[in-house]
Amino acid sequence: MKNKLGILGGGQLGMFICQAAKKHNIKTTIFSNSQKFSARGFCDNFLIGSFSDTILVEKFINSSDFFTIETENIPLQVLKLIEQKKKIFPSSNIVEIAQNRLKEKKFLNSISGIKTAKYKEINSFNDLENFYKLFGKTGILKSCEMGYDGKGQHHVSSKNIQKFKNYKFHGYILEEVLDFKKEISVLVCCSNKNTIFYPPVENIHKNSILRQTIHPARISDEIKNKALMLATKIASKLKLQGILAIEMFLMKNDELLINELAPRPHNSGHWSLDFCKYNQFESLIFSIFKKKLMNPEPINKCKMINVIGKDYEKKKIFSRKYKFYDYYKDEIKELRKMGHYTVKS
Ligand SMILES: Nc1ncnc2c1ncn2[C@@H]1O[C@H](COP(=O)(O)OP(=O)(O)OP(=O)(O)O)[C@@H](O)[C@H]1O
Ligand SMILES: [Mg+2]
Repeated sequence: MKNKLGILGGGQLGMFICQAAKKHNIKTTIFSNSQKFSARGFCDNFLIGSFSDTILVEKFINSSDFFTIETENIPLQVLKLIEQKKKIFPSSNIVEIAQNRLKEKKFLNSISGIKTAKYKEINSFNDLENFYKLFGKTGILKSCEMGYDGKGQHHVSSKNIQKFKNYKFHGYILEEVLDFKKEISVLVCCSNKNTIFYPPVENIHKNSILRQTIHPARISDEIKNKALMLATKIASKLKLQGILAIEMFLMKNDELLINELAPRPHNSGHWSLDFCKYNQFESLIFSIFKKKLMNPEPINKCKMINVIGKDYEKKKIFSRKYKFYDYYKDEIKELRKMGHYTVKS
């Protein structure tokens, strides 16, 4: 029986994947590049080391039948190596697009009916100066790779542009600053049998980090349907097998622009742990193990609140009052997601 799953990365998403796997009698092996990781107490086996350690990668490939990721920041060659011998969901082609903002933006804008914020590739200070003028003397400078929770991003304005004079501009884009109405996200999951969606949710960010998700998003049915239609288009272009989160900006004229893709379970889908019959992690397991995907069947309106940095010190209060999830991080860091809780609304 093929019931072994290898997971690249051992953070909280890996931890929740392990829990869903266990429920369905799937044995998990985590490959973590750090000693202390959230999934440690939840997986069946683990390997700790560098993704560039070929012997360890080989061992990992032999450990399982199927593979998945909990972060898109995994070296592409490791994913390709896995793909030569086994199956990985999502495929390396999808991760290749999602792990590089420039490739992602080019891909999205190549699909008819899909748009992103305006952007320019930045290779020098000269590029930065020229293009930020084009965007009205503002812009968000984003590293193309390895960014998450707003890391690797800088707001550029006439006040601080000189600061970037001696910057090494390898792998950056400048994005226009959008004056959006709301941020929403959609989760789409595809198996070889069927496709399901989690309803669009509304995401509230502060300092580029997700603070709160509201289910369902407070948008009209028309916008909701449009969001699902865009998600369908993107998933089908990617030939998705697995789960994909799509972050979108709802503009003041009701246009939807795509922000980014995450081909894995997503923080904005954590509400599904408590308020859906089938949560996002179980859907991922079903898609990998070639089962029919079940309609998520949302139960109630709710909010998911991230516990960030020092807020974690109040975890006893959160546990008493709400359904609190601890990510078992090794230490509290400013702007680090330490846990989350959900509240019925
Ligand atoms: N062009 C933009 N205009 C206005 N706000 C933006 C823009 N790009 C990003 N932001 C804000 O910053 C947040 C984080 O940006 P983005 O999603 O690109 O970064 P990230 O670091 O990859 O985040 P994560 O992977 O955690 O979602 C967005 O959710 C949004 O609130
Ligand atoms: Mg984002």
